[in-house]
Amino acid sequence: MIIAANWKMNLSRRNAGDLLKSYRDIAATKANISDGGGEGDKKVSGVSSGLIAFVPACYLPLAEDILSLTSVQFGAQDCHAEAKGAFTGDVSASMIADFSACWVLCGHSERRQYHAETDDVIAGKMTQAAQSGLNALLCVGESHEDRLSNQSIDVVTRQLMSTLQIWQSSRADNSTQLLVIAYEPIWAIGTGLVASLEQISEMHAAIKACLAGLGIAAPVLYGGSVKPDNAADIFAVADVDGALVGGASLNAEGFSQIVEAAS
Ligand code: PGA
Repeated sequence: MIIAANWKMNLSRRNAGDLLKSYRDIAATKANISDGGGEGDKKVSGVSSGLIAFVPACYLPLAEDILSLTSVQFGAQDCHAEAKGAFTGDVSASMIADFSACWVLCGHSERRQYHAETDDVIAGKMTQAAQSGLNALLCVGESHEDRLSNQSIDVVTRQLMSTLQIWQSSRADNSTQLLVIAYEPIWAIGTGLVASLEQISEMHAAIKACLAGLGIAAPVLYGGSVKPDNAADIFAVADVDGALVGGASLNAEGFSQIVEAAS
């Protein structure tokens, strides 16, 4: 299982440092997070278990200090789709890579919603990440309206196809970039509403089928109000290879329990 923490725009410098130290300790004591990804995922994607912390960009140096020489990987929550230039306030993939980060979160619904990120832009970010040696965790998910009108699978499949086809066409033959997908129904993010186990199972199977059609095998995480009390049930669903955890990742004890549920 892969357990990824998405801190979003939270925590003071001091609290961020304390939480990173807790992650380090959690990884040291719960070294055997199970490999839920299956052989295919393991071989093709090269990643099937572990902890990843997606920290605000200003805390990358802190993460480098605290997490280097540990098994916890870390990354940024976004990068720009261009390598450099006049983009005030933005951060490039190469800047992120300079702090020994391994990952970039791409296409989170909050980026799509508040920064109008399109599938093309998201694919550009994944490509920039690859060029700087960073792996990509791509988020997809449907809105509540999509869910109510039975469009969920179509919407998510469309997001995957359009982003990954562009990404594949610009992917260098010798690219070693790892890919992980997170299915995050928008209506379940930060709301306390969790997709039912049947909804998760159905969507994860559809995502894996879509990936297979593109010749890709990648772990698929679930995200959206994952908490200590629902994590074990979610991890038991077929085709769930871990979780992307927002709110519950900000609390060391709760996060530890989620990691425990995956072990
Ligand atoms: P949540 O956030 O766990 O607080 O719902 C998940 C996410 O946005 O990645």
